[in-house]
Amino acid sequence: MARIGLFFGTDTGKTRKVAKMIKKKFDDETMEKPLNVNRADPDEFASYEFLILATPTLGEGLLPGTSADMEEESWEEFLPKIDDKDFSGKTIALIGLGDQEGYPDEFVDALGELHAFFTERGATLVGSWPTDGYEFNHSEAVGEDGNFVGLALDLDNQSNLTEERLNLWLSQIASPFDLNL
Ligand SMILES: Cc1cc2nc3c(=O)[nH]c(=O)nc-3n(C[C@H](O)[C@H](O)[C@H](O)COP(=O)(O)O)c2cc1C
Repeated sequence: MARIGLFFGTDTGKTRKVAKMIKKKFDDETMEKPLNVNRADPDEFASYEFLILATPTLGEGLLPGTSADMEEESWEEFLPKIDDKDFSGKTIALIGLGDQEGYPDEFVDALGELHAFFTERGATLVGSWPTDGYEFNHSEAVGEDGNFVGLALDLDNQSNLTEERLNLWLSQIASPFDLNL
């Protein structure tokens, strides 16, 4: 088992693409191949010391899943399966994909939902990210310090910034994740 688990939810494939971009940068011992969370085993998921978790926001500010009109299950259905797990001692970094022009009042809201879920279950969340360079009205993913609680990516409007943002963010979590970049 690799040291870092990498899980994503997706509707149209963009979040899978981002997960693959991350995995490409690491060997198999460091990072697991990205796995769609609808195929994840709850016990295995909770056994990683380090996790990178990625989600789009769908519906109007929703986690991906059947409530957001997806045909497949996703984070919405997976979270109840790990409801009683204890994540204390685990280090988790989050990525949220969204569309700031199409959904300026719910930009990357699902990122905030994942953050709340894992914080409540004792995890150490790392990888907050400044809101500079984004234009939106409201986001549930902005924490008390005014930063996003994880990396916000907008492949709909700013796909040209994705690689650069990803590299900078990975260098930021390198120390807590004990990564060699
Ligand atoms: C029906 C629908 C609803 C969406 N709702 C939101 C939203 O509330 N907030 C947001 O930031 N992005 C929203 N988006 C944009 C997606 O999060 C964005 O396109 C994302 O990159 C999709 O990732 P995926 O290809 O992995 O599913 C929505 C997109 C669709 C198609």
